[in-house]
Amino acid sequence: MSRVTMADVAQRKASGGRLTMLTAYDYPMGKLVDEAGVDLVLVGDSLGMVVLGYDSTTPVTLDEMLHHAKAVRRGVTRALLVGDMPFLSLRSGSDVAVQSAARFVQEAGCDAVKLEWKPGIEDLAKAIIDAGIPVMGHVGLTPQTASSEGGFGIRGKDAASAERILGQALALEEVGCFAMVVECVPDALAREITERLRIPTFGIGSGPGCDGQVLVTYDLIGLFERFRPRFVKRYAEVARVIREAATAYVREVHAGAFPGPEHTVAMAPEELQKLREELGSR
Ligand code: KIV
Repeated sequence: MSRVTMADVAQRKASGGRLTMLTAYDYPMGKLVDEAGVDLVLVGDSLGMVVLGYDSTTPVTLDEMLHHAKAVRRGVTRALLVGDMPFLSLRSGSDVAVQSAARFVQEAGCDAVKLEWKPGIEDLAKAIIDAGIPVMGHVGLTPQTASSEGGFGIRGKDAASAERILGQALALEEVGCFAMVVECVPDALAREITERLRIPTFGIGSGPGCDGQVLVTYDLIGLFERFRPRFVKRYAEVARVIREAATAYVREVHAGAFPGPEHTVAMAPEELQKLREELGSR
């Protein structure tokens, strides 16, 4: 399969086809989701919660994001790779934002960056795009600021907030974003945003009306167990598989059943005798 390009992503919207994006945080997961055929792989700052064990995405640093993005890059050879700009990289002016985005591209080999809506973000997005780095926007529920905005519930349920979110998406499109994540808004609003934007939308918890869908892979495979968002469909129960495998290992080591002869290097009697003689002569 050939590499996915920005033009392919734009073209998919034009042709009415569906797009897929999944998160990855390390080499094996990047490789697996890439081989599965997703169009985009996102090194999301959800990494903070599902891999690093933080309570929110706010503490995730740029260095942590880059460390993981580099590993994902080694596994992704076909999909577009998007790095998620962490909280602080978007709060210290446009120079820091551009430098941070550039590190995703230069050091980690990302094809694009994603940034969450906050007041003034259009200016940062424009500065990054002007520096030649493609930007994906993110509106609706924006986890980096969720706690100061009343938690992780659905956004855009009343006309005023729906209009605000639509305006944010249009503003990010206006400055040149190539795609938009639309998180946790009602289906009707997601459809409206998708119809009004020329760039593709990726829904998460926003119904089937977007041009594409995105999920946190650890939710989809059942590896993150702390909570399960209502909109997640679990396609596997990997936490259970890992727990069962580790439990069986512990049981077998305690019982002396592992390692067995098939995992052990046995020596021929004459080789053993020779080794004993050599060791004895020391
Ligand atoms: O950080 C992340 O994984 C995300 C996706 C949920 C879109 O932003």
